[in-house]
This record gives sequence, C-alpha cells and structure tokens, in this order.
Amino acid sequence: MLEQTQYTDIWANDNYLQFMYERLILMRELLSEQGSIYLHCDWHKSHQLRFLLDEVFGEANFVNEIVWKYNWASTVKKKFSQKHDTIFWYAKHPDNWIFNLDELREPYTEAQLKGYKRDARGYYTLDASGKKWYAHPKGQLPSDLFEIGIISRSAKERQNYPTQKPEALIERIIKASSNEDSIVLDCFVGSGTTAVVAEKLGRRWIVSDINKGAIHTTMKRIQKLGETQ
Ligand SMILES: C[S@@+](CC[C@H](N)C(=O)[O-])C[C@H]1O[C@@H](n2cnc3c(N)ncnc32)[C@H](O)[C@@H]1O
Repeated sequence: MLEQTQYTDIWANDNYLQFMYERLILMRELLSEQGSIYLHCDWHKSHQLRFLLDEVFGEANFVNEIVWKYNWASTVKKKFSQKHDTIFWYAKHPDNWIFNLDELREPYTEAQLKGYKRDARGYYTLDASGKKWYAHPKGQLPSDLFEIGIISRSAKERQNYPTQKPEALIERIIKASSNEDSIVLDCFVGSGTTAVVAEKLGRRWIVSDINKGAIHTTMKRIQKLGETQ
C-alpha cells in the first residue's frame, strides 16, 4: 500500500542526511557510465548535501553548482530575500558526461551586441587588425545561472502540487545531460514534471514517489500529454 504522507521536512536533520545518503549511493549504482545526477536543494540544506555528494560521487566528479534564480513576491524584510535555489550536478565519471552544448546556448543580450555589425554570416566585431569576430549563430555559451520563473498561479502547467518545478527548468537539465536513447530517472517525481518533460523530449523515463497524490497527478499529466500529442 502506498503511503499518504505529503513531503515536508518530516525528518530530523541527521535522519534526513542518512536518508539522502542511502539513496544517493543507490542512484550512483544505477547511473550509466555517461550518466549525470542533478540534485536540487534550497539554502537550508545545500551545504550539507554537497558534502554527501562529494562523498558518494567523489569530488573529481563534481561538474557544476547551478543557481536557479527565480522571482517571487517576497515578504522578507529583515534580511535579503531568498531568490535562488541550488542544483548540484555530478557525473559518474570525470570528463565522460553528456553535454549537448548547442541545444543550451543562450541568446546574446542587446548590450553584448552593442557596437556589432551585421553581414550575411551574422553579427561581428572587428579587432585592431581588421579581422572579423563573429558572435556564435546559435547564441552564447550557457552559464550556470538559470533564470527561470516559478510557476505562476495562472500557468497552464500548474498542478497545485506544493513543490512543483517549472517544466523549463527540468527541460534544461534533461537536454543538457541526456540523449534521445537515454533513460531519465527521477525517484522523487512529485507532480510528474520530469516524466512530462522527458516524454516531450523523446527520452525513456522511470519515475517514482512515495506519495499517492504524486503518482496520481503524474499519471494524469502523462495521459493528457498522450491525448494532445
Ligand atoms: C520536492 S518534491 C518533487 C517535486 C517535483 N520535482 C515536481 O516538479 O513536482 C519531492 C517529492 O519526493 C517525494 N518523496 C519524499 N520521500 C520519498 C521517499 N522516501 N521515496 C520516494 N519519494 C519520496 C515526495 O512525496 C515529493 O513528491
């Protein structure tokens, strides 16, 4: 029988870290040789989880600390408002991970292209010797700062699942570290965002969750996707 517990900070700290430690070990065993793991955490636990990840995956396999910067109407007045979460990316092996660079490039800003000229090949600037330097046609190199808004009240994708992540956030991660023949696993799938995005991107996927409501929401989203595709 599935448990009904909704996810909150239901563990005392040590138990929580033990719980995560055991699951991270299992996740490492399940990863392919080219596989990557992304762990999303907020500011309460990120420092401790980074230690755990170092221990399980090895410091040499740490790839990026991604800052997910979002906007929400904060009511915090006695300190700086928290407007970002952290996502740690570790690989199973150093330098053997998938990274689909061209799918992740970001548009240049107007400020970056200020002073650039344009010809048939694209935007360029001239150096002192008159040589043309072109901006990459697909955009600039992607950074570890993801600026992606949280799901608004009126968003179509909203499921009213308390910890639901935006599809755009998961899409960036799946595109970065998997190919069409890859299998994407999310063992804390919540409202089903990973399953939905993996399906849309043509990946195979496996998801799980201890909460019955999460399974129900995920199944409904996947069914709906099937009807609209
Ligand atoms: C932060 S939420 C995931 C949100 C998800 N990324 C989304 O977009 O909706 C974490 C999920 O982990 C699940 N969870 C907590 N403990 C679990 C366990 N022991 N095994 C499996 N799932 C668990 C919770 O039910 C919750 O849905």
